Amino acid sequence: MANKYEEFRCKARLPTFAIPKRYDLYLKPDLHTCKFSGRVHISLDIVQETKIIVLNAADLSVDPKSVHFQSKDDDDDVEAVEVELFEDDEILVLEFAKTLPLGLGILSISSFQGTLNDQMKGFYRSKYEHNGEMKNMAVTQFEPADARRCFPCWDEPACKATFKITLEVPSDLVALSNMPVVDEKVNGDLKIVSYQESPIMSTYLVAAVVGLFDYVEDHTPDGIKVRVYCQVGKADQGKFALDVAVKTLGLYKEYFATPYSLPKLDMIAIPDFAAGAMENYGLVTYRETALLYDDKHSAAANKQRVATVVAHELAHQWFGNLVTMEWWTHLWLNEGFATWVSYLAADGLFPEWKIWTQFLDESTEGLRLDGLSESHPIEVDINHAREIDEIFDAISYRKGASVIRMLQSYLGADVFQRALAKYIKKHACSNAKTEDLWAVLEEESNQPVNKLMNSWTKQMGYPVVSVSLKDNKLEFEQRQFLSSGSPGEGQWVVPITLCRGSYEVQKSFLLEARSQTVDTAVLFGSSVSDNESPRSWIKINVDGAGFYRVKYDDHLSGKIRYAIESKSLSAMDRYGILDDSFALSMAGQLPLSSLLTLMGAYREEPEYTVLSNLITISSKVARVVADADSTLLDNLKIYFINLFQNSAERIGFDPKLGESHLDALLRGELFATLAVFGHEETLEEASKRFQAYLEDRNTHLLPPDIRRAVYVAVMKKVTSTNRSGFDSLLKVYRETDLSQEKTRILGALGSCSDPDIILEVLNFLLTPEVRSQDVVFGLAVSREGREVAWNWLKNNWEHISNTWGRGFLITRFVSAVVSPFSSYEKVKEVEEFFASRAKPSIARTLKQSIERVQINAKWVETCQNEKSLADCLQELAYRKY
Ligand code: BES
Ligand code: ZN
Repeated sequence: MANKYEEFRCKARLPTFAIPKRYDLYLKPDLHTCKFSGRVHISLDIVQETKIIVLNAADLSVDPKSVHFQSKDDDDDVEAVEVELFEDDEILVLEFAKTLPLGLGILSISSFQGTLNDQMKGFYRSKYEHNGEMKNMAVTQFEPADARRCFPCWDEPACKATFKITLEVPSDLVALSNMPVVDEKVNGDLKIVSYQESPIMSTYLVAAVVGLFDYVEDHTPDGIKVRVYCQVGKADQGKFALDVAVKTLGLYKEYFATPYSLPKLDMIAIPDFAAGAMENYGLVTYRETALLYDDKHSAAANKQRVATVVAHELAHQWFGNLVTMEWWTHLWLNEGFATWVSYLAADGLFPEWKIWTQFLDESTEGLRLDGLSESHPIEVDINHAREIDEIFDAISYRKGASVIRMLQSYLGADVFQRALAKYIKKHACSNAKTEDLWAVLEEESNQPVNKLMNSWTKQMGYPVVSVSLKDNKLEFEQRQFLSSGSPGEGQWVVPITLCRGSYEVQKSFLLEARSQTVDTAVLFGSSVSDNESPRSWIKINVDGAGFYRVKYDDHLSGKIRYAIESKSLSAMDRYGILDDSFALSMAGQLPLSSLLTLMGAYREEPEYTVLSNLITISSKVARVVADADSTLLDNLKIYFINLFQNSAERIGFDPKLGESHLDALLRGELFATLAVFGHEETLEEASKRFQAYLEDRNTHLLPPDIRRAVYVAVMKKVTSTNRSGFDSLLKVYRETDLSQEKTRILGALGSCSDPDIILEVLNFLLTPEVRSQDVVFGLAVSREGREVAWNWLKNNWEHISNTWGRGFLITRFVSAVVSPFSSYEKVKEVEEFFASRAKPSIARTLKQSIERVQINAKWVETCQNEKSLADCLQELAYRKY
């Protein structure tokens, strides 16, 4: 028989008979039994006469007798006659004995129970060591849709209400929630802590944390109390984040022309944490690695990570918390925007980091994912809570942030800021959709923002713009770019920017049609002919502000090359040309030999971000060449090692007094890659320094910035018969209590080439010594290890799927293990294995990973067919400079 509540099931959204206004929520976690109990009184506005109320709940047991409704204008207390929880739909259906009258009333659910789970979602348990003893803490993680695992609620971002929270906890523990404490009653071993009522907010931002913590504290000039909480004894490690937070609050207050809206801000490091950080209103939770900074043992990369994550989460306090997306389709508004604005803050605080140049890495990752035919539009339909996790991806974050940067640079920074401030004011304490943002921007700028941006957010993909110069005219043509090399159908409104010979003459126009021809005389005031001096280079997509790729004709690209070598291009443009060439080469639109030759123009490259991308690209090229024709590998490595020679000599292993942050970043990446390429001097130097470190953990010979590289080098040398390096690294792993050091080691273990050791590493990941959040770092294995990793994944799939399958971390297992392959046979093998094992939560990632394998396979074929490659490499490897 069909259930009588069938009409409420399998729906994306809850019915709207009743609108929640206020939650009075009490929770009592038991840290020994890992259970919790609670009660909630929800003030509702009944807007449609109904006997039935439908709200969200999951993994909870609700006592049916405890469910009542009391109308404001009616003394009668109405009892629920039926209380049914549909686990699949994550809804709780309540049916009452009589129709509930329109207007305000209170729904009471006075008794429900749940488990503090180990899944890092809902109300969960995290473990930590205190005085040699393991202890439990209770933590919430509700985004996207897990508040329902803690208390029955209308768990949708548009259902905003106020929250009055009370916690009953052991009296010796710290208990935090979104708002400041208003009252605390100690009763023996327990205390009841109640918090001030919050302003209206979405359920996914509600938070509570209970455990033992130390803190450091500061306040903003306008009196907002800011604290960083961390493990007992580590308070000093919170100081850097605290300083960043206080300054960032000031910066955003000015930028959004609206002050931070709560009386306090707490930030807290949680030992077990699935994401990087979570912007809960007034109580931001972080992984330890994203919040704590240790003067002695953290690297420059760790410092930058802390600053940008803090800046990102604090941006959400406005963009996300104060103004919230109306539905998950607009998640990118939250994440894309917070990502973009975190760069603005980091640039304000640390101009020497040249963070906007580093932003190009965000665009590159966005372009990489969006170059797949299995990508998705920025605005994506969401029909079930299970589908939300997978869209916290490079499209929402990185493409989202990149199209915002594109729009900002098109409209101008001032107009953009004014419009944003207006948007925040207009939609504060409410919800907004993508169109609402465009409307304000359109109003403020008088530009066709809607038309421009729809082509970027409502359709997936992006164009490659081909440019050629003929008879003093520039011809532009757009085509969808796909990494597979196949043609795509999309068409965009492309903001084309270009400059000529210097950055003084910059022009822009919107390319709306497939193609357009522009007279250079009209564009630049004087015509550019085909046979001018090399100085007349033309660069399209100035500073990479547009989310598209550019393909120049032979003539124009020859001049661009000259411009790189003569150092007349900006760092951002040097980056863009390299990155576009790499992508074109992978897609079979540029011979690999041309890419390799172009890379040579970067021999004297001084800029960190450009070099960093050169390093990444060289590793990818080395992998494809190894698969295509391993006999070419020796020459390739000679060439690459040679290419990095200048930088390696300049940077050296030891930090220079007063050196820049960017040099510190470069050091780690450069030597790690040289180690992977088997550069003997690097391997030897690393080994010496590692020995010194083993003897004395405070030795100046192994500063934090070089540690990961040294660990990679150590693992490169490890074999089954010579495993002392591996054992020593495990020893360091076990002895350190700094998460950043642990993840550095995990990230290096897979660099070994010996299959037996790789298997041992992978099995180590599944032991209790590795926190479940960190396992994915260990999955980055050497090319020689990928087959072992695949077999290991298959053999352990059931365990892995049971342990990580309920969160988004499972997707990382699939992408990390599957995408490094490069053969059509492997595509078949992967498809066959997952045919009976795929589930909705990995469906998208699996398709994307398989597509990457296909792209790699095709790339390998293209390289094999490139007859001149061997000669080209021979010449590049032994060319004298
Ligand atoms: N809102 C997210 C946290 C989140 C991620 C919740 C995935 C649920 C699922 C948070 O603001 C965030 O974006 N965190 C990032 C770090 C940020 C600096 C890019 C993260 O967790 O990686
Ligand atoms: Zn975010």
